[in-house]
This record gives sequence, structure tokens and C-alpha cells, in this order.
Amino acid sequence: MNSESKPIYVTQPSLAPLSEYVELMEEVWNSGILTHNGPKVQQLEAEVAEKFGLNNFSIVLNGTIALQMAIKALGLKGEIITTSFTWVATISAIKWEGCKPVFCDIDPGTLNIDENKIESLITDDTVAIMPVHVFGNPCNVEKIDSIAKKYNLKVIYDAAHAIGSTYNNKSLLSYGDISATSLHATKLFNTGEGGACIANSSELHEKLRRIRFFGHDQEKNVIEDGFNGKMTEIHAALGLANLKYFDKVLRDRQKKYFYYKNFLENKNSLSFQKLDLGTCNYSYFPVIFQSEHQLLQVEKKLNNNQIYPRRYFYPSVNTYTQIVDYQENPISEDISKRILCLPLYKDLTFDEIQRICNLVVESI
Ligand SMILES: Cc1ncc(COP(=O)(O)O)c(C=O)c1O
Repeated sequence: MNSESKPIYVTQPSLAPLSEYVELMEEVWNSGILTHNGPKVQQLEAEVAEKFGLNNFSIVLNGTIALQMAIKALGLKGEIITTSFTWVATISAIKWEGCKPVFCDIDPGTLNIDENKIESLITDDTVAIMPVHVFGNPCNVEKIDSIAKKYNLKVIYDAAHAIGSTYNNKSLLSYGDISATSLHATKLFNTGEGGACIANSSELHEKLRRIRFFGHDQEKNVIEDGFNGKMTEIHAALGLANLKYFDKVLRDRQKKYFYYKNFLENKNSLSFQKLDLGTCNYSYFPVIFQSEHQLLQVEKKLNNNQIYPRRYFYPSVNTYTQIVDYQENPISEDISKRILCLPLYKDLTFDEIQRICNLVVESI
């Protein structure tokens, strides 16, 4: 198969050499422990916390469960103001915890929640704000924090994309009452499936750990309305193997992000996410076209060449009327029709990026 006939997908998991995973798996086999907060989970929590300077870090099954646990741990019941430019999991987590999503429109540049539109959505039933650091781009955490303080609301960041991003030289995951991240196969750092909660106090941290483990305290009394959110040793071992390569993966993404950007930025009908607060992890390469028609032309051309970018996030989640009451968010609805994430991953070559860019330019 020559390079032109090999399909190129939007992403591929970043994986350590198999031999390094196998070595860790031998240790798991020999230990006879597969789950229940085993040694690999504990080691992974300690290593990630140390690497990113995080306190109160708990690993769980996936990012969606991490969001649900955050809502549960904060005891929220009522309206949660969130963004409509997100993955459906943000909304399903809110709904599964018996709360109501209230959609705030986005800033058309940063693609994050427009912090200037939050206050007008606050009612007597509002209990929290749940912004998303879209594509790892930091939200205006200071402004959001001051709004939350003024109205006595909690803040949960959907930080599914945000590992490796920083704000004020601190991990972006350390902001909010709780941040919830995803360690899914497509994320910059992955455990196959996985997620984590990062709490801003040791009390909340202990509560999250009890929720993760059926609501048990240390003596196995059930003192919390918990469930089973535990990660297995098999997934944790994958995380330990992959973590060693995190810096390399991050640098690679950044290089490729700018390679794409330098090539495409002077093509006047294209625009890009505005990255002006903190430091993004460059985990995605989203391009915003002038119209949905133009996007569809580009997508078709790429697909004809076996290149499969992804319309992400599409559609705007406020339009999922099977699960939510429609609330108009024109900017999110418009952008989601015009945004396409181009392939970006460790094994993607610069020649392939060049070919993708040429095809994009040819078709606009
Ligand atoms: C913004 C956002 N929130 C939440 C999630 C859910 O994460 P997970 O797939 O680990 O459940 C995702 C998944 O991609 C996401 O993009």
C-alpha cells in the first residue's frame, strides 16, 4: 500500500511501544490484582499528579462518569449553565444527575462559553456553571470564578480535552471546584477508556473517592450514594506506559499544529480558534470555513482521497431535541456547521499534512 492509498483518520491513539506495556502487564499478571484501587492505579494517580502538579487527583472509568461524579459530589440539583458547543457527554452527565442544562452561547473566536453571557442566564434555580475548555483552549477561568463567587455557584470544568494545557503556569485541570478530564483513546494522554476528577479540597477529594467505590468509607460502611467508578489495572498499566511519552506527544502536536496553521492561515476564507488565554495543548486542529457548503466540498474532496477529518462538535448540542428543550444559541449553531477537525496525531507525517493542506486549498 503506498502512502497515498493508506486511509488517514482524524486521529490515532498515542501508544507507547508494545514491549513496555507487556512488561507492565506481566507485573499485573503476577500480582493477581485486576481492580479495586490496585497498585497500578495508585502508581498512575501518583505519577500524573506529580507530573502536572495536581492535588486531589482521582482516576475513574471515563470522562463522562467523572463529570457525573463531580455533580454528585457537589450535591447539585437544579440548573447548570453550560455551553452548547460541546460533546453530548457534557449534557448527558448533567441530565443523568437530575439537573437541567441551560445553554450559554460561545465566543466565536475562542469557541469557549462566552463568559459575558453567563450572568443573564442565572435564575433562582441555577446551582453551577459547567464550561468546557474546547480543544484544550483555556476558558476565562478568572472571570468565571468571579461570577460563581458573586452568585454563590459551583464551577465544574469539563476539561475532557485539557490535559497538558496551562493557565497562569498551572495545569488547567487545577481550576474550578472540580475539573473532570477524559483519558479516552483519542485524547492526548490515554488509558484506552478513562477519566479523572481533580478537586479543589481534600474533603471533596475524599468524597469523590467514596463515590467511586460504592460509597464506602475506609471501614467499608456505606456512607455515600456511590457507584462503581473504578479503573482496572489493565487500563492503568496502559496509562503508565503512555505517560512516559506525554511530553514527546505534546511537542509533536504543537509542531504539527503550527505546520498546518502556517500553511493555511493566509488562505483568506479560513479561520482558526483564537488561543489567547493561557497555553493550549494543541490537541486538535480545527478549521472554520466560510460556509457549510464550503466545508462539505472540502470534506468530500478529502474523503475521495481516503482522508477522514471529523465534524466536531457537530451539531450544536442545544439542537438535540430528543434529549433537551431547544434554547437558541446562534453562534454555536453557526460555528458547528462550519468547523472541521483535520487529522492530527503522532504518526501523521509532515508530507501527509502537506497533502491534506493542498487538497483543502484546491477545494475552496
Ligand atoms: C467535551 C467532552 N466532554 C466529555 C467527554 C466524555 O469523555 P469520555 O469519552 O471519556 O467519557 C468528551 C469525549 O470526547 C468530550 O469531548
